[in-house]
Amino acid sequence: MNKTSKMDDPAVTMARLQALDRRYHLHPFTDPQALVQAPPFLMETAEGCYVSGQGIRLLDAMAGLGCVNIGYGRKEMVETAASAMEQLSYYHSFAAVTNPAAAALAGKLVSLMPEGLNRVFFANSGSEANETLIKLALMYWRRKGKPKKRVFITRDYSYHGSTIATSLLGGNDEMIADYGLDAHGEVARVVAPFWYRDGGDMDAETFGLHAARAIEQKIVELGADKVAAVIAEPIQGTLGAVMPPDSYWPEVERICRRHNVLLIADEVVTGLGRTGAWFAQQTYGFKADMMALAKGLSSGYFPISAAVISDEIADVVTAESAIMNHGFTTSAHPVGCAVALKNLDILERENLVDRVANDIGPYFATRLVELEKHPLVGEVRVRGLIAGIELTRNKQTREQYPVNFNLGGHVGHAAMIRGVIARPAGNAIVLCPPFIIKRGEVDYMVASMMDALNDTLALMKQQGIWP
Ligand SMILES: Cc1ncc(COP(=O)(O)O)c(C=O)c1O
Repeated sequence: MNKTSKMDDPAVTMARLQALDRRYHLHPFTDPQALVQAPPFLMETAEGCYVSGQGIRLLDAMAGLGCVNIGYGRKEMVETAASAMEQLSYYHSFAAVTNPAAAALAGKLVSLMPEGLNRVFFANSGSEANETLIKLALMYWRRKGKPKKRVFITRDYSYHGSTIATSLLGGNDEMIADYGLDAHGEVARVVAPFWYRDGGDMDAETFGLHAARAIEQKIVELGADKVAAVIAEPIQGTLGAVMPPDSYWPEVERICRRHNVLLIADEVVTGLGRTGAWFAQQTYGFKADMMALAKGLSSGYFPISAAVISDEIADVVTAESAIMNHGFTTSAHPVGCAVALKNLDILERENLVDRVANDIGPYFATRLVELEKHPLVGEVRVRGLIAGIELTRNKQTREQYPVNFNLGGHVGHAAMIRGVIARPAGNAIVLCPPFIIKRGEVDYMVASMMDALNDTLALMKQQGIWP
């Protein structure tokens, strides 16, 4: 075999790329041991609900990281990006400059927003959108003459991003301890509305109120004059698709209003259709003062996010002649804005949010709930097209396996072998497929999850871990 043909050999190319990646690429949220034991998986192409690499095709029941809502590989998204790049490959939005796509996207988003949320700041990631909201909340209270309002209340199991401030707001202690971060008393964490794990003997709705009132107790304990905002995901996706009882959100809103504390909805996962409404605030019946959007804004076709605030807050933070000292080189990127606009156009034209609410979402729920019959499954929670499969040691007592047992990881791995990407989250598995998923694909997903649970249970029996 001559040199050229060897270079052209796909297996050789793959091995070379994997070697380069292993040597030089630092991966986010990756166990380094995984890369010692095996080369990175090379994902190469994607279409619809499927991703492919190394000759393997998988049903992506995670829509990437919960972002590819319109599905992969849409030609009109590619054409939109190409023509936007041709027209204006880049320009910034500092110092009162804009571009046609940014202006149109801001207007379009506000037309979809819950009433009152009508000013948009563009960033590049969910972390940046939340970071922006944290800064704007601090600025708001300073300009309102209440500079002591600086504490942010957050909840167990939450995830708001990977920047320093958003790590401090998250429920993952390792993200704080690994870097020796310190919130200097400006973050206070309370119980999450996670009935299955923390509800004890209470029924779910009572526990929802109890969890909401933990926020009130914290505000009272700290003093409302010290609390800037409550920041919370309507559904806590990353750590198990934690879904609050219906009693929770309206009570949280009432508490925030009563104590003059801002309410920030982190809708990075739930925003733009995931729960079957444009925003999960509509699903759960509450209104926030600020909202973060990211993933579904471009369906992952371009890095773009939005920090959305009310007129009232915008008027305060822009009232004085002082410049808002905040922004990113690629804020309101013309290509990102054009891609996001096209994504919204597709969601509307194909009635995809309605499909999640009234067609595929209910089917997904009906089929998934069948998994509750499995001995390892304690609860299946579903809203729209996001689900958490809660794994348990004992259905009656709701006992958990120790987190280091990594039961979710084992089931996730077994699902992958069965051809489906599902996301392990401790003792739960998260599913949030693209909105275009077909009934037959849901059937395949459920059957594969059942097989994966059976495979895991068989292994546990073999190793004497079960019952
Ligand atoms: C609820 C929530 N907020 C914020 C983020 C951070 O978004 P990004 O990874 O785009 O910074 C995520 C990411 O998964 C998320 O799930």
